[in-house]
Amino acid sequence: MPIPILPRSPQSILAAVRALQAGDLVGLPTETVYGLAADAANGKAVARIFSVKGRPSFNPLICHVTGLAMADRIVDLPAEAKALAEAYWPGPLTLVLPQKEDPSLAVHDLVSAGLPTLAVRAPAHAVTRQVLHEMGCPVAAPSANPSTALSPTRARDVAEAFTEDDVALVLEGGAAAIGIESTIIGFVAGEVIILRPGSINSDDIAEVIGRAPRVRSNDDAITAPGQLARHYAPTCPVRLEATIPEENEFMIGFGAYEGHLNLSPRGDLVQAASRLFAALREGEASNKAAIAVAPIPARGIGIAINDRLTRAATITPQENDA
Ligand code: TXA
Ligand code: MG
Repeated sequence: MPIPILPRSPQSILAAVRALQAGDLVGLPTETVYGLAADAANGKAVARIFSVKGRPSFNPLICHVTGLAMADRIVDLPAEAKALAEAYWPGPLTLVLPQKEDPSLAVHDLVSAGLPTLAVRAPAHAVTRQVLHEMGCPVAAPSANPSTALSPTRARDVAEAFTEDDVALVLEGGAAAIGIESTIIGFVAGEVIILRPGSINSDDIAEVIGRAPRVRSNDDAITAPGQLARHYAPTCPVRLEATIPEENEFMIGFGAYEGHLNLSPRGDLVQAASRLFAALREGEASNKAAIAVAPIPARGIGIAINDRLTRAATITPQENDA
């Protein structure tokens, strides 16, 4: 039996809420990528996320909340974090913050992998906002892909990656509008650090907090396993900055660089981001020897696209978050 994909309806929302409350895992659409969700208070359900994804270790998960009021019940919100949430929530921004000493909503330790901090985000997708609203409590959800595989941007990507023993149902939410995981911001020793680039970029952050955030460098300790070199990886080699495909390569084009498909013939980086993971999947499915990708300008969301592509092209396999 395949995992059921439930169409948008009040009954589907209710089915997802019941499944989460029963400790089952559910695939939820967000504006960035689909998430594999569990009730954040239910340790057994959260543990299943790790086993089902085949994560090699317990890497921390993002807690999805309805908004600032719910976040305020589980984490401390310094002024800059609050300002960022006010500006960009609901939306593709994750804030890593100290956990409250006396939280008024339960979050199991496994969600943060025992760290004193917790990643929180209020997603914008209407379907998942309704689920969160009905739950009335945080929902832990990493991207709904097996460890090291490509992130899911469509409901069927989730349904095809797991079995019904693992995932109760997936809520249909259409193709993810952004297509790249949220920007992750950390607050460490008075500094604001971009831990993972996303569609909200450093200019967007600076505009709100009045100073430029630091971008995590390779010398920094790895605090988000999504920062590990090999990540978001297809099953075949990936060649970047390609202008013409070599024999037996699947070419992903951009702008004037043509290919077997084109991320955005008009050179629109936002459109390219939304198609990136589906394009890499198509490259994988083509059974060619490698995937070649046209140059993508490193500006705006192009920075996040290049971040994901560089990881996909990294040869040395490493322990991975996914
Ligand atoms: O757009 C998104 O953020 C999607 C959707 C489903 O919301 N979620 C997502 O989750 O990308 P995931 O698990 O694939 O990536 C979460 C990243 C990981 O790299 C994890 O290590 C980092 O967030 N993270 C979570 N909690 C953290 C913490 N307390 N400190 C540092 N990094 C943390
Ligand atoms: Mg992921």
